[in-house]
Amino acid sequence: MQVEKTVSWFEGWFNTPFYHDLYRHRDDREANQFIALLCDYFGWNENQAILDVCCGNGRHALEIEKRKLSAWGVDLSQRNIQLAQSNSEFPERWWVQDIRKLEHGHTFDFVLNLFTSFGYFDTDQEHMDVLSRVGDLLKLDGILVLDFLNLDYVVRNLVQVEVIPGELSNYNIHRSINQQWISKDISFEYHGRKYQYCEKVRAFHHNDLRQMLEACGFKVIRHWGDYSLNDHSEQSPRCIFVVQKQSND
Ligand SMILES: C[S@@+](CC[C@H](N)C(=O)[O-])C[C@H]1O[C@@H](n2cnc3c(N)ncnc32)[C@H](O)[C@@H]1O
Repeated sequence: MQVEKTVSWFEGWFNTPFYHDLYRHRDDREANQFIALLCDYFGWNENQAILDVCCGNGRHALEIEKRKLSAWGVDLSQRNIQLAQSNSEFPERWWVQDIRKLEHGHTFDFVLNLFTSFGYFDTDQEHMDVLSRVGDLLKLDGILVLDFLNLDYVVRNLVQVEVIPGELSNYNIHRSINQQWISKDISFEYHGRKYQYCEKVRAFHHNDLRQMLEACGFKVIRHWGDYSLNDHSEQSPRCIFVVQKQSND
């Protein structure tokens, strides 16, 4: 069996076409609907700069750009950034960077971190450092939208084993949860070769996230539970915090 050797799971998996195949329902249509609601809610205008951190192939930031707003994107995956650049009028607004080293010459009015692009690191401190770096990139009173999974929902609805058909392959999925991690093992064959990947996300409860955000100088102003901006509850599929950067004094 061919096992891809990578330093960390998130450096390899998201750079493959298989990730996009397995998650092909997380598409431009879903992004378009969510961005339309965010745009209305925040009243975004052309003078504001909006950065999507862990932007993937740019499906959200490109929707923002289509609205003639100023969208930027950063991601660790070179392939994803190249895809985004190829669809953007402003290729220079996209860059490859690890969020643990996140920095940029600009400051932004809004930072987005969408579809569980957080929780990949071993320690709480690494996650707090990322939130602090995001804070440094935001203007005072700037807004971060952090879209994470809802742990209560995941625990209640966990499907341990299933096969998900894709266009490139059929994906064998094994999911598990422990105190620390939500894990998904993904194995499949493609052109006669066997592949194995895993996704591992920290089992952060919404209270953990709230505590981390507040400790990093953010004030929670909304807590949504889905992409239609309904209020969060234990039954919600998502945990979407809207937080505002506070002054240091
Ligand atoms: C679940 S995907 C979501 C992508 C995008 N936000 C979306 O909704 O389609 C997570 C993204 O985070 C990126 N990522 C993972 N670890 C990262 C890191 N340390 N620094 C920057 N980006 C990272 C991956 O390359 C991937 O594109």
